[in-house]
Amino acid sequence: MIAIAVLGHGTVGSGVLEVFNKNHASIIEKAGEEMEIKYILDRREFPDLPYHDKFVKDFEVILNDPDVRVVVEVMGGLDPAFDFVLRSLKAGKNVVTSNKELVAVHGAELLAAAHETNVNFLFEASVGGGIPILRPLSQCLSANRIVEIAGILNGTTNFILTKMFREGVAFEDALALAQKLGYAERNPAADVEGDDACRKVCILASLAYGRHVYPQNVHTEGITHISAEDVHYAEAWGGVIKLIGRVKKLDDGRLFAMVSPAFISRESQLATVDDVFNGIMVRGDAIGDVVFYGRGAGKLPTASAVVADVIDAVKHLAARKYIDWEPAKDGYVCDYLEVPASMFVRVTARSRTEALRSVRGLLGNVTELVCPGVENEAAFITPMLPEGEIVRALQALRALDYPILSTIRVLDY
Ligand code: HSE
Repeated sequence: MIAIAVLGHGTVGSGVLEVFNKNHASIIEKAGEEMEIKYILDRREFPDLPYHDKFVKDFEVILNDPDVRVVVEVMGGLDPAFDFVLRSLKAGKNVVTSNKELVAVHGAELLAAAHETNVNFLFEASVGGGIPILRPLSQCLSANRIVEIAGILNGTTNFILTKMFREGVAFEDALALAQKLGYAERNPAADVEGDDACRKVCILASLAYGRHVYPQNVHTEGITHISAEDVHYAEAWGGVIKLIGRVKKLDDGRLFAMVSPAFISRESQLATVDDVFNGIMVRGDAIGDVVFYGRGAGKLPTASAVVADVIDAVKHLAARKYIDWEPAKDGYVCDYLEVPASMFVRVTARSRTEALRSVRGLLGNVTELVCPGVENEAAFITPMLPEGEIVRALQALRALDYPILSTIRVLDY
């Protein structure tokens, strides 16, 4: 009998118990071993639950029990999750986690620890919720050189943007609903400021290219500044606004990585990814584009990926699954200002014609956008230019007394 310990009984932890108990017979059959969840670590008491006797408050009980072969960390955050996971790996226990922050910040170190004790450290649920993406990337697509990855990686922000576009719901109301449905992080700033998507970009980039990409190296913008006017302009242009995380290998071996809201055309496959769904496009040199789609957040979709990792860990107790990346050197991720971009820009202007004359003097051949009912401003899309050049031109525009109302990148996925 293989004993499992679950660290944390929040949204995901309770989902793991639910999936494990509901599908117990088929899970045991697939794993080929008898398994039981022996401990659940949580500071709180749950006397009304049928499995209330499994709760413990002291992690040492789990660490010191040799029967525990798999530790499932679904607490979130770094402290104490990092300490518990590192000590579990060093004690020769397999670890499964859904914790994006943990993997994005400490992935290389934890993988090295797993390597040393020859155990599995698996984290499929950390990207895309229930969508299989890390295994396909590291196994099924391993014959490819990964050219680029781009996707909608955060369910909460996609849910909010969908509500704003489809129903004209205010940002705060849409966020409150996402929290109620169990999509948002404990601190929803991590969703709306783009940090959660950034962590997922780090994990995808590290896995695809073999070196650790750290969150502080990824330029990240959230959706808090997206206004109803921006939404109207995107519609008039023929597209939608999505929070896109992307990573690309440059010819000189460095990586470009970014998280930001973006205009994407209605024709794009990513444009139809709505609500809590995530869509991740992987571009390989042999396969071309492949898109992974499904529920990117929520209790049971995330638990589905966690429990699948538990089954995989149990099936590979003797032969560790290959999943690895190394620490990276400084300068591995380039400065985003070097990379060409096209930008949607709105400025305050009494005369649109005069404003656009100044804009064209600074940025060349921009495309004017007009949105019915919006007055006293000019809007345009810049040509593709290194982003630093666009930033300098916008500073000059500000100096000419055209305040910038918003800037949103335009992508052609
Ligand atoms: N808060 C995250 C999201 C949960 O909304 O996508 C899944 O990682």
